[in-house]
Amino acid sequence: MGVDDSPGRPDADRRYAERVLHISGAWQRAARGAGLLSPDGALAPTIFAEITAAAVRHDAVNLGQGFPDEDGPIEVLDAATEAIRSGVNQYPPGRGMPVLRDAIADHQHRFYGIDLDPEREILVTAGATEALTAALLALLDGPEDEVVVFEPYYDSYAAAIALAGARLVPVPLRWPALEPDLDDLRAAVTDRTRIILVNDPHNPTGTMFTADVRQEIVLLAERHDALIVTDEVYEHLVMGAAHTPISTLPGAAGRTLTISSGGKTFRTTGWKVGWVSGPADLVDAVLAVKQYLTYVNGAPFQPAIAVGLGLPDTYFDDLAATQRERRRLRCEHPGRVVLHGGGCAPDDGAGRGRVGLLPSTARTSRGGCDPTDRLRDGGAPRAVLVARAIRRVQAHGRHRGGRAAPRGIRSLNVASATLSPAG
Ligand SMILES: Cc1ncc(COP(=O)(O)O)c(C=O)c1O
Repeated sequence: MGVDDSPGRPDADRRYAERVLHISGAWQRAARGAGLLSPDGALAPTIFAEITAAAVRHDAVNLGQGFPDEDGPIEVLDAATEAIRSGVNQYPPGRGMPVLRDAIADHQHRFYGIDLDPEREILVTAGATEALTAALLALLDGPEDEVVVFEPYYDSYAAAIALAGARLVPVPLRWPALEPDLDDLRAAVTDRTRIILVNDPHNPTGTMFTADVRQEIVLLAERHDALIVTDEVYEHLVMGAAHTPISTLPGAAGRTLTISSGGKTFRTTGWKVGWVSGPADLVDAVLAVKQYLTYVNGAPFQPAIAVGLGLPDTYFDDLAATQRERRRLRCEHPGRVVLHGGGCAPDDGAGRGRVGLLPSTARTSRGGCDPTDRLRDGGAPRAVLVARAIRRVQAHGRHRGGRAAPRGIRSLNVASATLSPAG
């Protein structure tokens, strides 16, 4: 939808934009915050919808949306089927089914040594996205409150912060380390900072914050009496060393809400089973909002995700091994699998190798795709970039055996596999 007067653009667009701007309400803040509503009323689709439509139009690889190509583990799928058949189809308890809250507590203890009371310190949500939105709406209170966010960032952060009427303060991840500069971070966190919002491991770069960065976040939060909200949905999709939740750092637990979900870990993104954990009073504050967003969701999927969280170590080890292999492929073929910009930073020697890979669905506070020269989209329309990406993959397929890339490739993971020298 556009609103310019250039020849060929129907007046209907302009009239529609005028009508849209007359609809007052918080939706305008959310849409503007996410960069979807321009001052003249042009309302853009979300970046996910835009890229998915472009990929369909061009029969192209969709490198934009982060969903897996394979189904989840059979034990998890069977548990959901069994739950549906055995009648677990009505509203579950508001905080989530006890079996899932117990499994989340066990998981946090098993992998990170975190002790949680499943009755008071865990809340099941409709995916990590609802946990994030409920937490931001619950804890922010208008334009005086600031949220420090590392950019590029998952697009829902900006929308939820804007919906809460608060201010997003960006801190860019800098090339090539894809780390925030500590001075930038110190300058961004002030007494106005209500929340430092952390996404570690980070989407879209795959970077994991160093111990220094994590430490600084906690120190700054303590100094300025800020809360920390962490989005850890990629906790098991790591390319090197194991993930360290910020809440395990000294001084952090009392001021940190930790968010994750089963979508990425168990390849069940459509189930939208997520959770938030932390101090009981903060969790209660989130619950106060969450219960009026969805109340509850996904009854039969909750026990199934509980089964997943209890899978043996080999399952989680294999996830990490697969990520390492994908990083290797991307690093060997950066020009072929990266939609635009991007590159590959070598392993730093501590097993924390990073891939500078920027799907088109990343956002920055300036509405573009990346704050750094190395990772920007070069100004080409995104649809062109998608089309270019599929041509590269197809050319590579022909080069390797006269075959075009298989139709129906849906995401980067399979694109990587397609480019595998062995595959
Ligand atoms: C950083 C990040 N957080 C959260 C989500 C969404 O998680 P969920 O599907 O559990 O709402 C995504 C999805 O891509 C993501 O990239």
